[in-house]
Amino acid sequence: MQEIYENQFTDYQEQIKTTLHSFTKMKRFYKKEVMQAMEYSILSPGKRIRPILALEFCKMCGGDYKNYYDIACCIELIHCFSLIHDDLPCMDNDDYRRGMPSCHKKFGEAEALLAGDALNTLPFEIISNACKAGKISAETAVDLIGELSNAAGINGMIGGQAFDIYSVKMKHFNAQNLNLLQELKTCRLLEASCVMGCILADADYETTQYARVFGKRLGYAFQIVDDILDVEGSFESLGKPIGSDQEKGKITYVTMIGIEQAKDVARHQTLEALNILEKFDNNELLTDLTMDLLNRKK
Ligand code: IPE
Ligand code: IPE
Ligand code: MG
Ligand code: MG
Ligand code: MG
Repeated sequence: MQEIYENQFTDYQEQIKTTLHSFTKMKRFYKKEVMQAMEYSILSPGKRIRPILALEFCKMCGGDYKNYYDIACCIELIHCFSLIHDDLPCMDNDDYRRGMPSCHKKFGEAEALLAGDALNTLPFEIISNACKAGKISAETAVDLIGELSNAAGINGMIGGQAFDIYSVKMKHFNAQNLNLLQELKTCRLLEASCVMGCILADADYETTQYARVFGKRLGYAFQIVDDILDVEGSFESLGKPIGSDQEKGKITYVTMIGIEQAKDVARHQTLEALNILEKFDNNELLTDLTMDLLNRKK
């Protein structure tokens, strides 16, 4: 990434971390332990690409993005919830996340389960509070809640995670199935990140659709790279166990078409994403980020 964008990216990450921290300030009495588990997970060193996508799309569409860190962080809360539950013994059973013991390893399964649940509802509280405080209109709030709940729920990420579990039991699991699985479990939240930025900037329908397609293409590339890193990456840079997919017999792009072809598909999806990004002014940071995500090691 070019230095100027790298600095902007780091600024975003710091500001996002401060905003996330503000959500778990009051940790008292019976909820203390679960809130510590929430805080442990949301403050651990993630890449934060989802809130950054929301803020950048808001900015590219002429919105006052600096006002909306709390709303952009709502997507990170949902993402962190998905990671906590994804690592549980009943799901992927992974002991490390972001270079640290997984939430359930540190706090126990019940606390991790509840921390995930709490992170799944907190965003909707934050959005409705922003509306009550007059920061966003009721219409904007409804649009944001609609987009986020849809992307997170049974027609989005949770549906994709259900498909991920089911896929292991399927006799005939084809490329079309795999595309749908990845679209649901990964693309939908990335799409929602871009679209929520557009909603905050009050962008028109056509622009919002471009943002959606960009998010989808980026999402496909992102999950394929994640699957490749599960084979070719290292624990030191990834911060999560490698070989996890193979151990659980997961079907990924790598098992479906081989590593070299999987890399070709990731490149192709990235180029498609970059083409759509050209429709937006001031797209330099996201152009750099999109390329970096293809070549990432973490
Ligand atoms: C990991 O997402 C889960 C997938 C959808 C592949 P990220 O790679 O964005 O995880 P963090 O937030 O940087 O840890
Ligand atoms: C999970 O995909 C995507 C989520 C919705 C959390 P993976 O199971 O491959 O993600 P990692 O590799 O554990 O981060
Ligand atoms: Mg998983
Ligand atoms: Mg996993
Ligand atoms: Mg993975």
